[in-house]
Amino acid sequence: MDFILKEVSLSDSLDILFDLDQKVFTQNYHLRSPNKKVLFDWIRKSKIYLAYDGNKIIGFGAYEKKEVVAEITTLGVLSDYRRQKIGAFIVKKILSDIGALPVEVKTHPSNPAVKFYEKFGFIKGKVIENYENLGQPRLVLKRI
Ligand SMILES: CC(C)(COP(=O)(O)OP(=O)(O)OC[C@H]1O[C@@H](n2cnc3c(N)ncnc32)[C@H](O)[C@@H]1OP(=O)(O)O)[C@@H](O)C(=O)NCCC(=O)NCCS
Repeated sequence: MDFILKEVSLSDSLDILFDLDQKVFTQNYHLRSPNKKVLFDWIRKSKIYLAYDGNKIIGFGAYEKKEVVAEITTLGVLSDYRRQKIGAFIVKKILSDIGALPVEVKTHPSNPAVKFYEKFGFIKGKVIENYENLGQPRLVLKRI
């Protein structure tokens, strides 16, 4: 399949990203954004990519560069499009943007995405219980 990535601004794409967030984060190990403001605050410093199949938006990914580490702040592919290497395409672009800086991502320890990240050299680190008081644990995965 031919798909492409486009960098977008948060102000232009907040509605689209919120819609994708609600469609993608559907499992009990996910945290959906309760509203657009929470999503905005979460990714307001992130560089954001949307993945397209023609005109259809099928995935997204975002990361934030901090001083000594970068963080993947969100990543998702619509369920009908999974296991077609779209997530891989997005994460590879993010990793190539980030360059030499270590990269972290936090996800639920039971999320199959842990296997996905391990495939790209991320190593499991600590588990934060009740992450940000949201009632779920988060495993920190790091790629040096
Ligand atoms: C995680 C996610 C982005 C992966 O996207 P994807 O496009 O399906 O992944 P890819 O097709 O690029 O997978 C690449 C490799 O990662 C691994 N992988 C991907 N999904 C996997 C799964 N559910 N279980 C085990 N391994 C998986 C596989 O090794 C896969 O290669 P293979 O299909 O040849 O075996 C997607 O499952 C998703 O959107 N999940 C819901 C949102 C989410 O949990 N995001 C992460 C939270 S930060």
